[in-house]
Amino acid sequence: MSSNHRPESMQRITTKALAEAFIEEQIKAVKAQVGDNKVLLALSGGVDSSVVAALLLKAIGKQLICVHVNHGLMRKNESEQVIDLFEKQLDANLIYVDASERFLNLLAGEADPEKKRKIIGEEFIKVFDEEAVKLGRIPYLAQGTIYPDILESLNKGKVIKSHHNVGGLPEEMAMELVEPLKLLYKDEVRVVGSTLGLPDEMVLRQPFPGPGLGVRCLGAITVDRLRMVRESDAILREEFAKNGLDKAVWQYFTAVPDFKSVGVKNEDRYEGYPVIIRAVNTVDAMTATVAEIPFSLLQHITQRITSEVEGVNRVLFDYTPKPVGTIEWE
Ligand code: XMP
Repeated sequence: MSSNHRPESMQRITTKALAEAFIEEQIKAVKAQVGDNKVLLALSGGVDSSVVAALLLKAIGKQLICVHVNHGLMRKNESEQVIDLFEKQLDANLIYVDASERFLNLLAGEADPEKKRKIIGEEFIKVFDEEAVKLGRIPYLAQGTIYPDILESLNKGKVIKSHHNVGGLPEEMAMELVEPLKLLYKDEVRVVGSTLGLPDEMVLRQPFPGPGLGVRCLGAITVDRLRMVRESDAILREEFAKNGLDKAVWQYFTAVPDFKSVGVKNEDRYEGYPVIIRAVNTVDAMTATVAEIPFSLLQHITQRITSEVEGVNRVLFDYTPKPVGTIEWE
């Protein structure tokens, strides 16, 4: 559609009024681009795809078909929240695909982080592609591409990790792209999302990697350790929100390694897995510092995780900045 270059004269969208003007302009542009045709969107529930969904719903309503693929590596209740908001509250056309078992079967026994990412990325495209075929020929594919994605792809450096965003364009599918956010920075996307009426929990969300909890369940993924990651992450997020840290810390999550240690519970030997807490601040995710978390809160979270998450007998805090550690463990 339009160029991939953000003109210097383009005003930064910092207020509701500016966001409203942007939304009006994009509604016109999208209508002119797609006419009466249907548009397909992979809706992960992340900020960018959610804002695109809300914008397109406003522009073309039921012509938009959202597909939410649950790869089994989502956070606790995440798919339910996507369904609740988009299908139940906003009345979007939404296809929910529970592909958890498919992904977990493919990932079984694979411990190499890059191979895990590759499996998840490729399988995602397959599942999405299958849904698209079932729907017949849809000429347009909407994507939550934002300006940093465009800058990053222009600027490919050495690959430290092969990041991917689920929802990448299946190359063999000749669909025209609809990318209404492609000239916006993340903070502008958030203002647009709020102006469209999306709730704060969605718009102010911390980043979540495409391969999801798959890169936080370290080594070969098992259903049991995946549960430990998911449950401990939910406790961490609940406690950070209760204590106002959800707005002060850029990204925070738990990871579970693939080794056990010896512990003691009810006077018995209790072998279990450790949970690692990661909490970092950054501007652009290229470098990061470790967030300071009150010791008493860490103690409380440790107490909750070790008593509420079956199979966990230790909680560790990761003090490593990036570099030398990356933000995710894999
Ligand atoms: P790292 O671990 O490279 O992470 O320091 C930097 C930021 O990127 C996120 N991340 C991903 N995001 N797809 C994504 O969309 C991915 O494959 C991916 N891997 C890491 C990570 O959560 C952090 O915010």
